[in-house]
Amino acid sequence: MTSRVRITDVSPRDGLQAEKAIVPTVDKARLVELVRRANVDEIEVSSFVSPKWVPQLGDASGLFELVTQSKGEGVCYSALVPNMRGLESAIEVNKRAREQNGIERLIDKVSVFAAASEAFSLKNTNGTIDEVLKRFEGLIPLAHEHGLMVRGYISCIVRCPFDGDVSPVAVGDVASRLLDMGADELDLGDTIGAATPETIEPVIMEAIDRLEGRASNDFDEPTLTLHLHDTFGHASDCVRIALELGVRSFDGSAGGLGGCPYASTETARAPGNISTMLLNQTIREAGFRTGIDEAALFEASEYAAGLLA
Ligand code: HMG
Ligand code: MG
Repeated sequence: MTSRVRITDVSPRDGLQAEKAIVPTVDKARLVELVRRANVDEIEVSSFVSPKWVPQLGDASGLFELVTQSKGEGVCYSALVPNMRGLESAIEVNKRAREQNGIERLIDKVSVFAAASEAFSLKNTNGTIDEVLKRFEGLIPLAHEHGLMVRGYISCIVRCPFDGDVSPVAVGDVASRLLDMGADELDLGDTIGAATPETIEPVIMEAIDRLEGRASNDFDEPTLTLHLHDTFGHASDCVRIALELGVRSFDGSAGGLGGCPYASTETARAPGNISTMLLNQTIREAGFRTGIDEAALFEASEYAAGLLA
């Protein structure tokens, strides 16, 4: 029996957060629905971040309301939260879904995000690495109290658009701190798509090392996820090496949309995520299983690409 690999589609969040055009909430809801039909394991629906920082996702609560009825069994819905205020918004959404629709938990997971580079941390979250991690100290236990799993993103795992190369140990140190605070999952973000199989291998090894022997608070063993952007066409090679090293969870974006607005420089726009179609194909060609319905994923990808055409 071949191993099953988990796929999270981040197109409604990472895919739309840096676009000039603000996509109407109903169109985002349609995207979530199409991606859900493709049978991904998780959908990163939106972010509860400051609308001053990311106006494109200022409708997170409204979007969750629109996708409440269609959620169905088996899929995990998640959202980014940068601070306690963001978590409170997520908890409020769940409370409303429970009271109005009898849904036990609409949002299953919240994702905190830190970086392995100081310059990116300041640009993206207006705080040093230390300051940003401190914001999660009370947040993670409160999320657990409300039955929410916590994903801990680490950005710039290979290179930062401002500070240059990042060492695997710097990534590992942030990983350890997230795990010490109770994160249930580490998500390694190659924010600008700089990774190659050679540069990503030591980072994955470092993260696996930091994960060893950890049991999370309420859920299974913490998992390791890889979040690749695909600037130079190396993302699928990185997926292959990650699979060889034992990684069984990946993020992709329908239509290959994506990019962090705070990772763009004067000369380079932040690149899109690996497309979920390419991700799925790479995983299957490497001999692993996914839950994806390929025809439905094709439809979702066409729709996603059309949103920004
Ligand atoms: P700040 O300006 O230092 O925060 O930003 P503040 O506490 O001074 O608040 C500023 C204003 O935002 C205030 O409003 C707050 O109320 C409001 P005002 O009083 O001026 O009217 N505010 C909020 N509103 C709604 N929800 C909230 C919230 N928090 C504050 N949660 C902050 C600090 C972290 C809030 C800001 O920097 C921020 O929101 N950053 C988010 C940036 C972002 O979303 N980046 C993209 C996601 S990360 C990414 O893409 C990488 C990833 O894909 C992995 C990879 O590829 O590497 C995950
Ligand atoms: Mg990203």
